[in-house]
Amino acid sequence: MGFNNWARYECDLNQKLFTDTADWMLEHGFLAAGYNTLTVDDCWMTTERDPDTHALVVNTTLFPQGMGWLGQYLHTRGFKFGIYEDAGYMTCGGYPGSQGHYDQDVAQFAAWEVDYIKLDGCYIKRNESLPKSDTLEPTFHYLYRSFGEAIRSQPRPMVYSESAPAYFAGASAGTGTKVGRDWYKVHTWIGRYGQLWRHSTDIAVWHDDGNSRWYSVMTNYNFNMRLARFQRPGNWNDPDFIVTGDNEGLTFEEQRSQFGLWTIMASPLILSTDVKILSTSQIAYLTNPESISINQDPLGIQGRFARLTVDNDVLVKPLANSSQRAVAILNKRSESSNVTIPYARFGYTFKPSDVGCNLLIRELFSQSEVTVTVRNPRQESLSVLLNPHDTALYRITTLTNAPECRVS
Ligand code: GLA
Repeated sequence: MGFNNWARYECDLNQKLFTDTADWMLEHGFLAAGYNTLTVDDCWMTTERDPDTHALVVNTTLFPQGMGWLGQYLHTRGFKFGIYEDAGYMTCGGYPGSQGHYDQDVAQFAAWEVDYIKLDGCYIKRNESLPKSDTLEPTFHYLYRSFGEAIRSQPRPMVYSESAPAYFAGASAGTGTKVGRDWYKVHTWIGRYGQLWRHSTDIAVWHDDGNSRWYSVMTNYNFNMRLARFQRPGNWNDPDFIVTGDNEGLTFEEQRSQFGLWTIMASPLILSTDVKILSTSQIAYLTNPESISINQDPLGIQGRFARLTVDNDVLVKPLANSSQRAVAILNKRSESSNVTIPYARFGYTFKPSDVGCNLLIRELFSQSEVTVTVRNPRQESLSVLLNPHDTALYRITTLTNAPECRVS
Protein backbone atom coordinates (compact mmCIF):
# COMPACT_ATOMS: atom_id res chain seq x y z
CA MET A 1 0.00 0.00 0.00
CA GLY A 2 1.25 3.47 -0.75
CA PHE A 3 1.62 6.20 -3.33
CA ASN A 4 3.25 6.48 -6.76
CA ASN A 5 3.24 9.67 -8.83
CA TRP A 6 2.91 8.13 -12.30
CA ALA A 7 -0.78 7.93 -13.25
CA ARG A 8 -1.50 11.43 -11.92
CA TYR A 9 1.73 13.34 -12.54
CA GLU A 10 3.77 11.31 -15.03
CA CYS A 11 7.13 13.17 -15.49
CA ASP A 12 5.86 16.29 -13.72
CA LEU A 13 7.49 15.22 -10.44
CA ASN A 14 9.84 16.77 -7.90
CA GLN A 15 11.08 16.51 -4.33
CA LYS A 16 8.33 18.74 -2.98
CA LEU A 17 5.61 16.52 -4.43
CA PHE A 18 6.94 13.62 -2.35
CA THR A 19 7.61 15.54 0.86
CA ASP A 20 4.20 17.25 0.64
CA THR A 21 2.45 13.97 -0.14
CA ALA A 22 4.18 12.22 2.78
CA ASP A 23 3.33 15.05 5.17
CA TRP A 24 -0.28 15.04 4.06
CA MET A 25 -0.61 11.25 4.25
CA LEU A 26 0.83 11.24 7.74
CA GLU A 27 -1.48 14.01 8.91
CA HIS A 28 -4.63 12.50 7.38
CA GLY A 29 -4.27 8.97 8.69
CA PHE A 30 -3.09 7.32 5.47
CA LEU A 31 0.16 6.06 6.97
CA ALA A 32 -1.76 4.72 9.99
CA ALA A 33 -4.22 3.03 7.60
CA GLY A 34 -1.31 1.18 5.94
CA TYR A 35 -0.33 3.34 2.94
CA ASN A 36 3.35 3.27 3.84
CA THR A 37 5.43 3.18 0.65
CA LEU A 38 6.05 6.24 -1.54
CA THR A 39 7.57 5.44 -4.91
CA VAL A 40 9.29 7.85 -7.26
CA ASP A 41 8.44 6.67 -10.78
CA ASP A 42 10.21 7.42 -14.08
CA CYS A 43 11.98 10.69 -15.03
CA TRP A 44 13.86 11.24 -11.76
CA MET A 45 17.31 11.07 -13.37
CA THR A 46 19.35 12.85 -16.01
CA THR A 47 19.54 11.49 -19.55
CA GLU A 48 23.10 10.14 -19.17
CA ARG A 49 24.96 8.06 -16.60
CA ASP A 50 28.02 9.62 -14.95
CA PRO A 51 30.74 9.33 -17.64
CA ASP A 52 33.37 8.17 -15.12
CA THR A 53 31.56 5.98 -12.62
CA HIS A 54 28.62 5.01 -14.90
CA ALA A 55 26.35 5.66 -11.93
CA LEU A 56 22.79 6.86 -12.43
CA VAL A 57 22.57 10.61 -11.87
CA VAL A 58 19.70 12.27 -10.04
CA ASN A 59 18.13 15.28 -11.72
CA THR A 60 18.94 17.85 -9.05
CA THR A 61 16.70 20.46 -10.61
CA LEU A 62 13.81 18.21 -9.61
CA PHE A 63 15.37 16.63 -6.50
CA PRO A 64 17.82 19.26 -5.19
CA GLN A 65 18.71 17.29 -2.07
CA GLY A 66 19.14 13.99 -3.85
CA MET A 67 17.63 10.56 -3.26
CA GLY A 68 19.52 9.70 -0.06
CA TRP A 69 18.01 12.79 1.52
CA LEU A 70 14.51 11.93 0.29
CA GLY A 71 14.87 8.40 1.64
CA GLN A 72 15.77 9.78 5.04
CA TYR A 73 12.93 12.28 4.95
CA LEU A 74 10.46 9.45 4.33
CA HIS A 75 12.01 7.07 6.86
CA THR A 76 12.02 9.70 9.60
CA ARG A 77 8.27 10.00 9.16
CA GLY A 78 7.66 6.26 9.14
CA PHE A 79 7.37 5.67 5.38
CA LYS A 80 9.25 3.36 3.08
CA PHE A 81 11.01 4.63 -0.02
CA GLY A 82 10.45 3.22 -3.50
CA ILE A 83 12.17 4.02 -6.79
CA TYR A 84 11.71 3.18 -10.50
CA GLU A 85 14.17 1.69 -12.96
CA ASP A 86 13.98 -0.45 -16.07
CA ALA A 87 15.41 -3.87 -16.92
CA GLY A 88 16.29 -2.72 -20.45
CA TYR A 89 18.78 -0.19 -21.77
CA MET A 90 16.33 2.73 -21.41
CA THR A 91 13.34 3.49 -19.20
CA CYS A 92 9.96 3.91 -20.87
CA GLY A 93 10.45 7.67 -20.56
CA GLY A 94 13.86 7.55 -22.28
CA TYR A 95 16.22 7.75 -19.28
CA PRO A 96 19.14 5.36 -18.68
CA GLY A 97 17.96 1.80 -18.07
CA SER A 98 19.68 -0.64 -15.78
CA GLN A 99 20.70 -3.33 -18.30
CA GLY A 100 24.41 -4.07 -17.87
CA HIS A 101 24.46 -2.25 -14.50
CA TYR A 102 22.22 -4.35 -12.24
CA ASP A 103 24.68 -4.83 -9.35
CA GLN A 104 25.86 -1.24 -9.50
CA ASP A 105 22.35 0.22 -9.56
CA VAL A 106 21.07 -2.05 -6.79
CA ALA A 107 24.07 -1.01 -4.64
CA GLN A 108 23.25 2.62 -5.39
CA PHE A 109 19.62 2.14 -4.36
CA ALA A 110 20.70 0.36 -1.18
CA ALA A 111 23.03 3.27 -0.38
CA TRP A 112 20.02 5.59 -0.72
CA GLU A 113 18.13 3.29 1.67
CA VAL A 114 15.57 2.34 -0.94
CA ASP A 115 13.02 -0.24 0.29
CA TYR A 116 11.14 -0.99 -2.94
CA ILE A 117 12.20 -1.16 -6.59
CA LYS A 118 9.76 -1.07 -9.48
CA LEU A 119 11.56 -2.59 -12.47
CA ASP A 120 9.89 -1.77 -15.76
CA GLY A 121 10.43 -3.64 -19.04
CA CYS A 122 10.71 -1.09 -21.86
CA TYR A 123 13.59 -1.29 -24.38
CA ILE A 124 14.72 -4.81 -23.66
CA LYS A 125 17.11 -6.14 -26.31
CA ARG A 126 17.15 -9.84 -27.10
CA ASN A 127 19.92 -11.72 -25.33
CA GLU A 128 21.59 -13.61 -28.19
CA SER A 129 23.41 -16.01 -25.88
CA LEU A 130 20.10 -17.61 -24.88
CA PRO A 131 18.58 -20.47 -26.90
CA LYS A 132 16.81 -19.19 -30.02
CA SER A 133 13.23 -18.09 -29.49
CA ASP A 134 10.79 -16.14 -31.60
CA THR A 135 9.74 -14.05 -28.60
CA LEU A 136 11.48 -11.98 -25.96
CA GLU A 137 10.12 -14.17 -23.15
CA PRO A 138 13.43 -15.99 -22.44
CA THR A 139 15.29 -12.66 -22.38
CA PHE A 140 12.74 -11.18 -19.97
CA HIS A 141 13.08 -14.25 -17.78
CA TYR A 142 16.86 -14.01 -17.75
CA LEU A 143 16.88 -10.29 -16.96
CA TYR A 144 14.22 -10.33 -14.24
CA ARG A 145 15.92 -13.28 -12.57
CA SER A 146 19.32 -11.53 -12.75
CA PHE A 147 17.96 -8.36 -11.20
CA GLY A 148 16.39 -10.42 -8.41
CA GLU A 149 19.78 -12.04 -7.82
CA ALA A 150 21.38 -8.58 -7.66
CA ILE A 151 18.90 -7.61 -4.94
CA ARG A 152 19.43 -10.82 -2.99
CA SER A 153 23.21 -10.73 -3.19
CA GLN A 154 23.47 -7.58 -1.12
CA PRO A 155 22.26 -7.12 2.47
CA ARG A 156 19.45 -4.59 2.21
CA PRO A 157 15.99 -6.14 1.85
CA MET A 158 14.08 -4.46 -0.97
CA VAL A 159 10.64 -5.29 -2.32
CA TYR A 160 10.92 -6.18 -6.00
CA SER A 161 8.03 -5.07 -8.21
CA GLU A 162 8.35 -6.61 -11.68
CA SER A 163 6.66 -5.29 -14.81
CA ALA A 164 7.55 -8.20 -17.10
CA PRO A 165 4.05 -9.71 -17.54
CA ALA A 166 2.63 -6.39 -18.76
CA TYR A 167 4.80 -6.70 -21.86
CA PHE A 168 3.04 -9.94 -22.82
CA ALA A 169 -0.54 -8.88 -22.16
CA GLY A 170 -1.14 -7.92 -25.77
CA ALA A 171 -1.67 -4.26 -26.57
CA SER A 172 -5.03 -4.82 -28.19
CA ALA A 173 -6.38 -7.11 -25.47
CA GLY A 174 -9.73 -5.67 -24.47
CA THR A 175 -12.06 -6.34 -21.58
CA GLY A 176 -11.80 -10.02 -20.81
CA THR A 177 -10.64 -10.98 -24.30
CA LYS A 178 -7.38 -12.33 -25.62
CA VAL A 179 -3.98 -12.10 -23.98
CA GLY A 180 -0.51 -12.44 -25.48
CA ARG A 181 0.80 -15.93 -26.14
CA ASP A 182 3.49 -15.91 -23.46
CA TRP A 183 1.49 -14.07 -20.81
CA TYR A 184 0.68 -17.11 -18.68
CA LYS A 185 4.19 -18.47 -19.21
CA VAL A 186 5.71 -15.34 -17.66
CA HIS A 187 3.41 -15.83 -14.68
CA THR A 188 4.84 -19.27 -14.02
CA TRP A 189 8.27 -17.79 -13.12
CA ILE A 190 7.66 -14.18 -12.10
CA GLY A 191 6.80 -15.02 -8.48
CA ARG A 192 10.12 -16.79 -7.88
CA TYR A 193 11.99 -13.51 -7.98
CA GLY A 194 9.74 -10.68 -6.82
CA GLN A 195 6.81 -9.92 -4.56
CA LEU A 196 4.42 -8.23 -6.99
CA TRP A 197 4.09 -7.78 -10.73
CA ARG A 198 2.30 -5.52 -13.14
CA HIS A 199 0.43 -7.70 -15.61
CA SER A 200 -1.46 -5.30 -17.85
CA THR A 201 -1.43 -1.87 -19.45
CA ASP A 202 -1.41 1.42 -17.58
CA ILE A 203 -4.69 2.60 -16.16
CA ALA A 204 -5.44 5.71 -18.16
CA VAL A 205 -6.02 8.83 -16.16
CA TRP A 206 -5.08 11.87 -18.16
CA HIS A 207 -4.19 10.19 -21.42
CA ASP A 208 -6.93 8.85 -23.61
CA ASP A 209 -6.39 5.62 -25.46
CA GLY A 210 -9.63 6.13 -27.33
CA ASN A 211 -11.65 4.22 -24.75
CA SER A 212 -13.29 5.48 -21.58
CA ARG A 213 -11.34 5.43 -18.35
CA TRP A 214 -13.89 3.06 -16.89
CA TYR A 215 -13.05 0.68 -19.73
CA SER A 216 -9.40 0.96 -18.71
CA VAL A 217 -10.23 0.06 -15.08
CA MET A 218 -12.44 -2.84 -16.21
CA THR A 219 -9.72 -4.12 -18.55
CA ASN A 220 -7.13 -4.37 -15.78
CA TYR A 221 -9.71 -5.86 -13.40
CA ASN A 222 -10.58 -8.58 -15.92
CA PHE A 223 -6.92 -9.34 -16.56
CA ASN A 224 -6.34 -9.61 -12.83
CA MET A 225 -9.28 -11.98 -12.36
CA ARG A 226 -7.57 -14.51 -14.64
CA LEU A 227 -4.53 -14.68 -12.39
CA ALA A 228 -6.01 -15.64 -9.02
CA ARG A 229 -4.04 -18.88 -8.91
CA PHE A 230 -0.70 -17.06 -8.98
CA GLN A 231 -1.46 -14.98 -5.90
CA ARG A 232 -0.42 -15.89 -2.37
CA PRO A 233 1.12 -14.05 0.58
CA GLY A 234 4.38 -12.55 -0.71
CA ASN A 235 3.28 -12.89 -4.37
CA TRP A 236 0.77 -10.37 -5.61
CA ASN A 237 -0.88 -9.64 -8.96
CA ASP A 238 -0.73 -5.88 -9.55
CA PRO A 239 -3.55 -4.44 -11.69
CA ASP A 240 -2.02 -0.91 -11.46
CA PHE A 241 -2.82 2.22 -9.50
CA ILE A 242 -5.86 3.32 -7.54
CA VAL A 243 -7.01 6.42 -9.39
CA THR A 244 -9.48 7.91 -6.94
CA GLY A 245 -9.15 11.69 -7.03
CA ASP A 246 -9.65 14.67 -9.28
CA ASN A 247 -10.26 12.27 -12.08
CA GLU A 248 -12.52 13.74 -14.73
CA GLY A 249 -12.99 10.46 -16.50
CA LEU A 250 -14.55 8.47 -13.65
CA THR A 251 -17.68 9.08 -11.59
CA PHE A 252 -17.57 8.87 -7.79
CA GLU A 253 -19.12 5.39 -7.98
CA GLU A 254 -16.61 4.21 -10.59
CA GLN A 255 -13.68 5.38 -8.47
CA ARG A 256 -15.08 3.73 -5.35
CA SER A 257 -15.85 0.57 -7.34
CA GLN A 258 -12.23 0.36 -8.41
CA PHE A 259 -11.16 0.56 -4.78
CA GLY A 260 -13.74 -2.07 -3.76
CA LEU A 261 -12.65 -4.49 -6.50
CA TRP A 262 -8.95 -4.01 -5.76
CA THR A 263 -9.78 -4.55 -2.07
CA ILE A 264 -11.53 -7.88 -2.59
CA MET A 265 -8.85 -9.02 -5.07
CA ALA A 266 -6.23 -8.37 -2.33
CA SER A 267 -4.41 -6.21 -4.88
CA PRO A 268 -1.74 -3.64 -4.05
CA LEU A 269 -3.43 -0.36 -3.08
CA ILE A 270 -1.08 2.21 -4.60
CA LEU A 271 -2.66 5.63 -4.87
CA SER A 272 -1.72 7.80 -7.81
CA THR A 273 -3.52 11.04 -7.19
CA ASP A 274 -3.22 14.55 -5.81
CA VAL A 275 -3.89 13.50 -2.22
CA LYS A 276 -4.34 17.08 -1.04
CA ILE A 277 -7.62 17.48 -2.89
CA LEU A 278 -9.24 14.15 -1.99
CA SER A 279 -12.76 14.71 -0.71
CA THR A 280 -13.92 13.65 2.75
CA SER A 281 -15.92 10.77 1.31
CA GLN A 282 -12.99 9.58 -0.80
CA ILE A 283 -10.70 9.70 2.24
CA ALA A 284 -13.32 7.78 4.20
CA TYR A 285 -13.49 4.81 1.86
CA LEU A 286 -9.75 4.75 1.11
CA THR A 287 -8.86 4.55 4.80
CA ASN A 288 -11.80 2.50 6.10
CA PRO A 289 -10.11 -0.04 8.41
CA GLU A 290 -12.71 -2.71 7.67
CA SER A 291 -12.00 -2.55 3.93
CA ILE A 292 -8.25 -2.43 4.49
CA SER A 293 -8.43 -5.51 6.70
CA ILE A 294 -10.17 -7.40 3.89
CA ASN A 295 -7.49 -6.28 1.44
CA GLN A 296 -4.69 -7.13 3.86
CA ASP A 297 -6.22 -10.35 5.20
CA PRO A 298 -3.39 -12.76 6.10
CA LEU A 299 -4.65 -15.56 3.82
CA GLY A 300 -3.94 -13.24 0.88
CA ILE A 301 -6.53 -14.99 -1.28
CA GLN A 302 -7.73 -13.11 -4.34
CA GLY A 303 -11.52 -12.87 -4.53
CA ARG A 304 -13.03 -15.14 -7.17
CA PHE A 305 -16.16 -15.00 -9.27
CA ALA A 306 -19.18 -16.45 -7.54
CA ARG A 307 -21.12 -15.31 -10.58
CA LEU A 308 -20.15 -13.53 -13.78
CA THR A 309 -22.75 -12.12 -16.16
CA VAL A 310 -22.87 -9.37 -18.76
CA ASP A 311 -24.69 -7.14 -16.26
CA ASN A 312 -23.00 -7.79 -12.94
CA ASP A 313 -20.20 -9.66 -11.22
CA VAL A 314 -20.23 -11.18 -7.75
CA LEU A 315 -16.88 -11.89 -6.09
CA VAL A 316 -16.25 -13.87 -2.92
CA LYS A 317 -13.08 -13.89 -0.85
CA PRO A 318 -12.42 -16.25 2.06
CA LEU A 319 -10.92 -14.56 5.13
CA ALA A 320 -8.64 -15.80 7.91
CA ASN A 321 -11.55 -15.64 10.35
CA SER A 322 -13.36 -18.73 9.11
CA SER A 323 -16.79 -17.44 10.16
CA GLN A 324 -16.37 -14.52 7.77
CA ARG A 325 -16.04 -13.84 4.09
CA ALA A 326 -16.00 -10.79 1.88
CA VAL A 327 -18.41 -10.33 -1.01
CA ALA A 328 -18.43 -7.64 -3.69
CA ILE A 329 -21.25 -7.00 -6.13
CA LEU A 330 -20.42 -4.88 -9.20
CA ASN A 331 -23.09 -3.36 -11.41
CA LYS A 332 -21.53 -3.31 -14.88
CA ARG A 333 -24.54 -1.64 -16.46
CA SER A 334 -24.66 2.07 -17.20
CA GLU A 335 -28.09 2.19 -15.58
CA SER A 336 -29.06 1.62 -11.97
CA SER A 337 -29.76 -1.99 -11.41
CA ASN A 338 -31.11 -4.33 -8.78
CA VAL A 339 -28.83 -7.33 -8.28
CA THR A 340 -30.00 -10.46 -6.52
CA ILE A 341 -27.79 -13.40 -5.62
CA PRO A 342 -28.72 -16.52 -3.64
CA TYR A 343 -26.79 -17.05 -0.41
CA ALA A 344 -25.74 -20.48 -1.66
CA ARG A 345 -23.44 -18.73 -4.17
CA PHE A 346 -21.24 -17.45 -1.35
CA GLY A 347 -20.10 -20.98 -0.64
CA TYR A 348 -22.07 -21.67 2.49
CA THR A 349 -22.34 -25.38 2.96
CA PHE A 350 -25.25 -25.26 5.35
CA LYS A 351 -28.10 -27.62 4.71
CA PRO A 352 -31.66 -26.41 4.90
CA SER A 353 -32.83 -26.73 8.47
CA ASP A 354 -35.76 -25.53 10.48
CA VAL A 355 -33.54 -23.36 12.59
CA GLY A 356 -31.63 -21.58 9.83
CA CYS A 357 -28.39 -19.70 10.05
CA ASN A 358 -28.03 -16.13 11.19
CA LEU A 359 -25.81 -14.06 8.99
CA LEU A 360 -24.59 -10.58 9.84
CA ILE A 361 -24.31 -8.74 6.54
CA ARG A 362 -22.34 -5.53 6.76
CA GLU A 363 -21.90 -3.23 3.77
CA LEU A 364 -18.66 -1.34 4.19
CA PHE A 365 -19.17 1.71 1.96
CA SER A 366 -22.50 2.64 3.58
CA GLN A 367 -21.46 1.26 6.98
CA SER A 368 -24.85 -0.39 7.28
CA GLU A 369 -25.69 -3.86 8.51
CA VAL A 370 -28.55 -6.30 8.79
CA THR A 371 -28.92 -9.71 10.36
CA VAL A 372 -30.82 -12.28 8.31
CA THR A 373 -31.89 -15.81 9.11
CA VAL A 374 -31.35 -18.03 6.10
CA ARG A 375 -33.24 -21.33 5.91
CA ASN A 376 -32.97 -22.10 2.24
CA PRO A 377 -29.75 -20.64 0.80
CA ARG A 378 -30.64 -21.63 -2.75
CA GLN A 379 -33.85 -19.67 -2.72
CA GLU A 380 -33.15 -16.83 -0.34
CA SER A 381 -31.03 -14.04 -1.78
CA LEU A 382 -29.00 -10.99 -1.00
CA SER A 383 -30.42 -8.13 -3.00
CA VAL A 384 -29.01 -4.65 -3.63
CA LEU A 385 -29.89 -1.65 -5.78
CA LEU A 386 -26.72 -0.23 -7.33
CA ASN A 387 -26.06 2.98 -9.25
CA PRO A 388 -24.36 2.69 -12.66
CA HIS A 389 -20.94 0.99 -12.30
CA ASP A 390 -21.21 1.01 -8.50
CA THR A 391 -19.99 -1.76 -6.22
CA ALA A 392 -21.26 -2.92 -2.83
CA LEU A 393 -18.62 -4.42 -0.57
CA TYR A 394 -19.76 -6.73 2.20
CA ARG A 395 -18.30 -8.56 5.12
CA ILE A 396 -20.55 -11.48 5.98
CA THR A 397 -20.26 -13.15 9.37
CA THR A 398 -21.93 -16.41 10.37
CA LEU A 399 -23.49 -15.85 13.76
CA THR A 400 -25.02 -19.28 14.24
CA ASN A 401 -22.56 -21.65 15.79
CA ALA A 402 -23.76 -24.82 14.10
CA PRO A 403 -21.66 -26.96 11.76
CA GLU A 404 -24.09 -26.56 8.90
CA CYS A 405 -23.75 -22.75 9.07
CA ARG A 406 -20.03 -22.76 8.49
CA VAL A 407 -18.44 -21.35 5.42
CA SER A 408 -16.86 -23.84 3.06
C1 GLA B 1 5.30 2.28 -18.01
C2 GLA B 1 4.70 1.78 -16.71
C3 GLA B 1 4.12 2.95 -15.93
C4 GLA B 1 5.21 3.98 -15.68
C5 GLA B 1 5.83 4.42 -16.99
C6 GLA B 1 7.04 5.31 -16.79
O1 GLA B 1 4.32 2.77 -18.87
O2 GLA B 1 3.71 0.83 -16.93
O3 GLA B 1 3.57 2.51 -14.70
O4 GLA B 1 6.19 3.44 -14.83
O5 GLA B 1 6.26 3.30 -17.77
O6 GLA B 1 7.63 5.73 -17.99
